[in-house]
Amino acid sequence: MARTTDLSSSALLDVVEQVALRPVRGEGAHLFTAAGERYLDFYGGHAVALLGYGHPALVAALDRQARTLFFQSNIVPLDVRERAAASLVRFGPPGLSRAFFVNSGAEANENALRIAFLATGRPRVVAVEGAFHGRTAAAGAVTAGHERWYGFPVEPFAVTWVPFDDAAALERAITSEVAAVILEPVQGVAGARALSRAFLETARTATAAAGAILIFDEVQCGMGRTGHPFAAQAHGILPDVLTTAKGLGGGFPVGAVLVGEALAAGIRKGDLGTTFGGGPLAMALVEAVIATIEAEGLLARVRRLSARLRSECLVGPVTAVQGMGFLLGLRTVSPAKDVLARLRGKGILAGGSADPHVVRLLPPLILEDAHVDELVAALKEMQP
Ligand SMILES: Cc1ncc(COP(=O)(O)O)c(C=O)c1O
Repeated sequence: MARTTDLSSSALLDVVEQVALRPVRGEGAHLFTAAGERYLDFYGGHAVALLGYGHPALVAALDRQARTLFFQSNIVPLDVRERAAASLVRFGPPGLSRAFFVNSGAEANENALRIAFLATGRPRVVAVEGAFHGRTAAAGAVTAGHERWYGFPVEPFAVTWVPFDDAAALERAITSEVAAVILEPVQGVAGARALSRAFLETARTATAAAGAILIFDEVQCGMGRTGHPFAAQAHGILPDVLTTAKGLGGGFPVGAVLVGEALAAGIRKGDLGTTFGGGPLAMALVEAVIATIEAEGLLARVRRLSARLRSECLVGPVTAVQGMGFLLGLRTVSPAKDVLARLRGKGILAGGSADPHVVRLLPPLILEDAHVDELVAALKEMQP
């Protein structure tokens, strides 16, 4: 099967290497093409389809909200927005009691960095090699490899890069110039690489000692994907700011920035703003996603099936499994793109990563044992 589609005759700008699979429908953990081909989706549109496709609770919430009030901005108070914020801060790490809603992961990080600069008045940010925080000006400046695509004439602030999981280097980097340390507890785009608890603890203690802000970017690894509401809770480490997006709306664009009372007290009216952020459709979905994760006991399911994936996927071309929960990287002997093509040939869609030998798995939290069996059987049949 060809890897890419030809967009030369399309009205779309050709900016992404597409997979030659044109889904027309999704149901549960599966995508279907017009020809009726069925694909088991272990990728979820970059980790967004958190509860799979067509989950009745999400469809009902969207339908109900669309019929009631389709849109209003945060210039007016909305019950649904306040309920979504209350659900999210209850689901999130205790201590982060205030939410600001935006539309995407990059926008959440852009605002998190802005909060750190406003709070500290300092000029520098520390980031971790391999990081992906988004493609906007500030988030892009702390994203690895941005030299290739950044596009803006100047970078907005100074950045100190520390090697992945090097706690001593991190400690040295956190000087009195540093406004924030931003990190993904589990790096997604880099290939599902989890930072160690020791590194995260150093980040917490060293930022607190230096008066810098610790930002956890849980845009990809948050919302239950680690088998805990957020990686912050999995590790028992409380950042000053936590960002999330992707699965937060189960497919509807929405991002959020969470902060504690101390930071919130210093944020004044007008410091942050948005037109679409906190719109009622997105808010109804945030509320429904969290309620569904809790009602269906999905965190326990993630932990159980992740343990199966970690041990049973060590077959065929796979030599190691890394990551946490349902953000896993399969290290492969042959190039990941070949393994991905062979999996697609067997009706399974998975993802690549920045590492050419890591296949990324981002299945929906509703995954079942039979789906794990199917992936393991497909890998087993493959020559390394
Ligand atoms: C950890 C992380 N942060 C931020 C982003 C950017 O999110 P968005 O594409 O919604 O702007 C991504 C996207 O892949 C991500 O994985």
